[in-house]
Amino acid sequence: MIHQSEISSILDGYDREKITIATIGSHTALQILKGARDEGFRNMVICKKGSANVYRQFGLADELVIVENYKQVLENAFQERLIERNAILIPHGSFVEYLSPALIENELVVPMFGNRKVLGWESDRNKEREWLLRAGLRLPREYKDPADIDRLVMVKFPGAKGGRGYILASNPEEFEQKHKALELIDKEMYTLQEYVIGTRFYPHYFYSPLTDKVELLSMDIRYESNIDGIARLSHILQDSLPEPSFVVTGNLPVVIRESLLPRVLEMGQNVIETSRELFSPGLTGPFCIETVCTEDLEFIAFEISARIVAGTNLFINGSPYSQLLYDVPMSTGRRIAREVKEAIKGDLLDEVVY
Ligand SMILES: Nc1ncnc2c1ncn2[C@@H]1O[C@H](COP(=O)(O)OP(=O)(O)O)[C@@H](O)[C@H]1O
Ligand SMILES: [Mg+2]
Repeated sequence: MIHQSEISSILDGYDREKITIATIGSHTALQILKGARDEGFRNMVICKKGSANVYRQFGLADELVIVENYKQVLENAFQERLIERNAILIPHGSFVEYLSPALIENELVVPMFGNRKVLGWESDRNKEREWLLRAGLRLPREYKDPADIDRLVMVKFPGAKGGRGYILASNPEEFEQKHKALELIDKEMYTLQEYVIGTRFYPHYFYSPLTDKVELLSMDIRYESNIDGIARLSHILQDSLPEPSFVVTGNLPVVIRESLLPRVLEMGQNVIETSRELFSPGLTGPFCIETVCTEDLEFIAFEISARIVAGTNLFINGSPYSQLLYDVPMSTGRRIAREVKEAIKGDLLDEVVY
């Protein structure tokens, strides 16, 4: 485990005038790079040969570093090179997946935007549940024993990536039959979760410790395959429905009924307050609560992502919500860079970078 003081002393040595915003070339890197530029920073993208062309094509990177393998970022020489550039790393979904929460906590000394302790809380299903429940959010019902399944449940496995490999079952027999047929190493590690029917909403928030405000920057609905394809044909497929899967393939922009905004904001605020109690100084920066809004207009939350999410890519030019908050096109990527800039101005960098 890397001690916070080690990172702090590296950050103390940084030249505030020459900060580089750096990230891994995938996920939301384009808006992070553009956001950094728009706020006046130098930027750097670390990517594999195969995706280098994307970043060249858009001409958004001041420096492009090619690696064979993302874990190379953790090598001493590589980290030193980043530190020489006064680099602040911006974590995103692929960043966390490629490096892993454990390696980030144990081996990464380069200052990173946001509190690292959050990674352990969002990646552990039990801790995540404890956090959201404490925040007063409603969660889908969970079943310990498959024999108790009395309605449609989603069977979730830890190794399943992007909802691939999840199964649905409406009763114990259906569960046994489908579970037996699975070829997953971790198939006994399942969670049985009530399948909530309603409208999914994925609000993108940003919490600034500098202003102590939770901002709603934008919102999306994920487009998932094959479930969204099945929906178009459900009347034709009736007797031969394929097993649904939930692999994210795209994102649709959405705005929510204005009368639901108070609850959306309240959920974000509660999650932040609770995070402070659970792992001080708590969650800072961008996050997203994955919810389903039921016909009773109640939000059921099934997951939290404590970093920038890919749905924000819709809003590189701002969203209806961010336009109310800012006079310039404010993506989440740009909001991160703005936070770093404000922190530098107020000499508070250690409140947003850890
Ligand atoms: N309890 C639930 N009720 C209804 N749909 C759900 C539920 N949990 C997950 N889903 C659907 O499955 C998708 C993937 O589930 P999620 O738990 O977010 O997995 P991942 O970790 O892959 O993001 C969601 O985006 C949503 O469409
Ligand atoms: Mg999810």
